[in-house]
Amino acid sequence: MKETDSLNDNETGLFKTEEGLIYKNGDLMIKGDFERMLKRLTHANLSHELLIKACRIKNADHPLTVVDATAGLGEDALLLAAAGFNVELFERDEVIAALLKDTLNRALKNEKLSFIVSRMHLHEEDSISGLKDIKTPDIIYLDPMFPARSKSSLVKKKFQVIHTLEAPAEDEDKLLSAALAAKPQRIIIKRPLKGAFLNGVKPSYSINGKTVRYDCIVL
Ligand SMILES: C[S@@+](CC[C@H](N)C(=O)[O-])C[C@H]1O[C@@H](n2cnc3c(N)ncnc32)[C@H](O)[C@@H]1O
Repeated sequence: MKETDSLNDNETGLFKTEEGLIYKNGDLMIKGDFERMLKRLTHANLSHELLIKACRIKNADHPLTVVDATAGLGEDALLLAAAGFNVELFERDEVIAALLKDTLNRALKNEKLSFIVSRMHLHEEDSISGLKDIKTPDIIYLDPMFPARSKSSLVKKKFQVIHTLEAPAEDEDKLLSAALAAKPQRIIIKRPLKGAFLNGVKPSYSINGKTVRYDCIVL
């Protein structure tokens, strides 16, 4: 993996800048940014987040741990940590993991974010094997890349860059099997609103948003 200090127009790779680590590929540029999400992290806003609703377990007798098995740039994990969950994040792509690690380190130095990100622990590895080492996770969250859409303009810039790094996941069956084998209380899967069930497995119930759906498998 290339990591340099000068942001050269013609190069593709990771660049260290004063604002943090950036990945650049042609016109596309991506950097993790948790400060931008601060407004979404208030108690009032979090209570409307469908992901948080999907992960809440009523009358839990201990602080709950969510394994985010497909962490990406960690935005969903940040929402979960802000809502009080401990979050174990797995990211297997080394470029995305480097961006995420840099984002977490910067957030640790921000007084509004440090307490939240202290509940987030990054594993730079594949969750299909890594899940075996997590003792009794309460909830496993899966958000593998959505299948490519026909109109690429509909794909957010962030995902255009992620698409250049990793094609949509083709080992969804192994990911779901690893999650089931870890025996959590619940598996939550993010899908496009009209998308097929992950690996064809019908969930216990779904929570629908405007564009996405959270499929909940209760074990
Ligand atoms: C759609 S993105 C996740 C976005 C994330 N929920 C967020 O809020 O930023 C999917 C990510 O999962 C990662 N991924 C897919 N399969 C994985 C696996 N088995 N283990 C670890 N990471 C995986 C991909 O590299 C990609 O970065």
